[in-house]
Amino acid sequence: MEQLIVDGKVCDLENVCDCLTVTDLDPCIIVIFGASGDLATRKLMPALFRMWINNSLPDPVAIVGCARTAFSRSEFISRIKKECLICASVSEAQWLEFSSRLYYFRLEYDSEQTFVQLKNYLKDLDREKDTQGNLLFDLAVPPHLYSVIAENIGQSGITRQFPKESSWCRLVVEKPFGSDLHTSRELDKSLHLHFTEQQIFRIDHYLAKETVQNILMLRFANAIFEPLWNRSYIDYVGIIAAEKIGIENRAGYYEKSGVIRDMFQNHMLQLLSLIAMEPPSHFEADRVRDEKLKLFRSIRPFNGRNGEVILGQYESGTIDSKPVPGYHEENGVANDSLTPTFALLRFSIDNWRWQGVPFYLVSGKRLKRKETRIVIQFKEVPHSLFRDVLNESVVANRLILSIYPEEGITLSFQTKSPGAKVCLRTMNMNFSYQESYKGVSLEAYEKVLLDCIVGDHMLFWRQDGVEEAWSLLTPLLHSCESCENRAQQLYSYPAGSWGPSAASEFVEKIIS
Ligand SMILES: NC(=O)c1ccc[n+]([C@@H]2O[C@H](COP(=O)([O-])OP(=O)(O)OC[C@H]3O[C@@H](n4cnc5c(N)ncnc54)[C@H](OP(=O)(O)O)[C@@H]3O)[C@@H](O)[C@H]2O)c1
Repeated sequence: MEQLIVDGKVCDLENVCDCLTVTDLDPCIIVIFGASGDLATRKLMPALFRMWINNSLPDPVAIVGCARTAFSRSEFISRIKKECLICASVSEAQWLEFSSRLYYFRLEYDSEQTFVQLKNYLKDLDREKDTQGNLLFDLAVPPHLYSVIAENIGQSGITRQFPKESSWCRLVVEKPFGSDLHTSRELDKSLHLHFTEQQIFRIDHYLAKETVQNILMLRFANAIFEPLWNRSYIDYVGIIAAEKIGIENRAGYYEKSGVIRDMFQNHMLQLLSLIAMEPPSHFEADRVRDEKLKLFRSIRPFNGRNGEVILGQYESGTIDSKPVPGYHEENGVANDSLTPTFALLRFSIDNWRWQGVPFYLVSGKRLKRKETRIVIQFKEVPHSLFRDVLNESVVANRLILSIYPEEGITLSFQTKSPGAKVCLRTMNMNFSYQESYKGVSLEAYEKVLLDCIVGDHMLFWRQDGVEEAWSLLTPLLHSCESCENRAQQLYSYPAGSWGPSAASEFVEKIIS
C-alpha cells in the first residue's frame, strides 16, 4: 500500500482525503457582491457547491448573492443550479439541501441606505441560522466598485454589529488590485478605512493550484534540490502561461489592461517568487510573504536593455484548424489599438543566489495551445568525458513543473542507450498528480474560499507585495504606453503561433 505523511502521521494513500479539507470550520454567512456576474455564476457558486458536496463548507452556512439585478430568490437559485449541476451530478434531495442555504438580496452598490437594509437582513439571517456573527464578503464586481462597496459595508455599520472578540469579518478582493502603483495605493487606502490588513484577502487563484503550492514542498521538503537551486547549476528559468483563447467578450477590461497588467502583475510574479525566494523560517503566511517581498525587492528594474521586453499582438490565424479573428477584429477593440496581448519579459534578480541567471516569463493570448509550466534549465556538465565518443554535447538536465493541462513534475536526465555503441538518450522521471492521486481534489477557487473561511493568508497577496510588484512594472508600463515608437515596439503574430518571431524561438524551447 502506498503511503503519505499527513500532519506527521503516516497514512495509506487511500485515506489521503484527510488532506482534502479542514474540520471545525466556523459557521458563517458568505456574501457575494456581483452575484449576477460571470465570476460569481461560473466560478464562485459552483466552487461553493462542490465544497458543500465534499464537506468543505461550514455548517451552518448561508450564502447571500447581492447585485442590482432584480432576481427573486428562486430565480437566483435556478440560475445557479444550471452552472452547479454542470460540475457535479447530485440527487435532487442533495441539491435542495444546498440550495436551502442560498439567498438573494437586491441592492445598489453606491447606496448606503440599501447597505443599512443589508445589515438588518444579515442580522436576522445570522440569528435564524446561528452563523455566530461571522461574515465573509466577496467582491465579485468590476474593480471600480471595490472601494464603493467596502466603504458602504463600513459606513452602514455591518462590520460593527457583531462582537469583535467572538466573531470575524473578512473581505475578499479579486484582481486587479489597481492598474498601477498609484491606483493600487488609492484602492488600499479605501479598503483600510474599515478593514484591517488581516481582514483583507487579495485572491490570486493561480496560487491555489496544487502544483503551484507544491513548489515550496519540492524545494524545501527535499534535500536534493536546494543545493542545486542557484547560479552555479541553473542556466535559466522559463515560466510560461499560454492561452489559446482570445479576449472573449472582455474587450472593455482587456483594452485598458493588456497582458502585463492582466498576467504579470499577479500570477507570473507570484510564480517567479515561489521559484526564486529564499527559504522562509516557517511555513506560515507572513514568513512566506516576507520572503516573497524580499525577492520582489531584488528584481532589477527594467531599463530598456536589449531583448528585455518583447511585446506582441495577435493577428487573425488558425487554431485547431479553425480560423480565428485578429485582436483588432474583436468586438469592442479600437481599430488602432496598441494593447499588447503577448509579452516575454526577461527578469534579472540581483542577489547572490541568482546573479547572472535570466528568468524568462512569457504569457500571451491566442497562442498555439493552452499550457502553463515552469522550466528549470540546468547547466551542462562542466566537462564531458563522452564528448570525443559522442561527438556532441551532452543534453543538460531539465526540471519541468507542469501546471496545465497536466499537473506534475518531470526531471530529464541522460542514460545510456542499450547496445554496443556508446549513445546517450534523454529519459524522464515523471510525477503526475492525475495518475498518482485518484481521489477528490480541491479546485483553485474551492481552496481559496476555504482558506478565507479558515483565515489563512498563505495564498493571498499582502499589500506590500502588491506595491512592490507595481513599483517594478509601473515604469515599464508607462514607458511602453508613452514611447514615441510604440507601434514599432509591438510585434504582430498570427493566432495559433508561439508569439512574435522575435520570441517564438525561445518560447518553443521552453514549451518543447
Ligand atoms: N470572470 C472571471 O473569470 C474573473 C477571473 C478573475 C478575476 N475576475 C475579477 O472579478 C471581478 C468580477 O468579474 P466578472 O467577470 O464577474 O464581472 P462582471 O460579470 O462584468 O460583473 C459582475 C456584476 O457586477 C455588476 N456590474 C457590472 N458592471 C457594472 C457597472 N458598470 N456598474 C455597476 N455594477 C456593475 C453586474 O451586476 P448587477 O448589474 O446585477 O449589479 C455584474 O453582473 C472583476 O473585478 C474581474 O476583474 C474575474
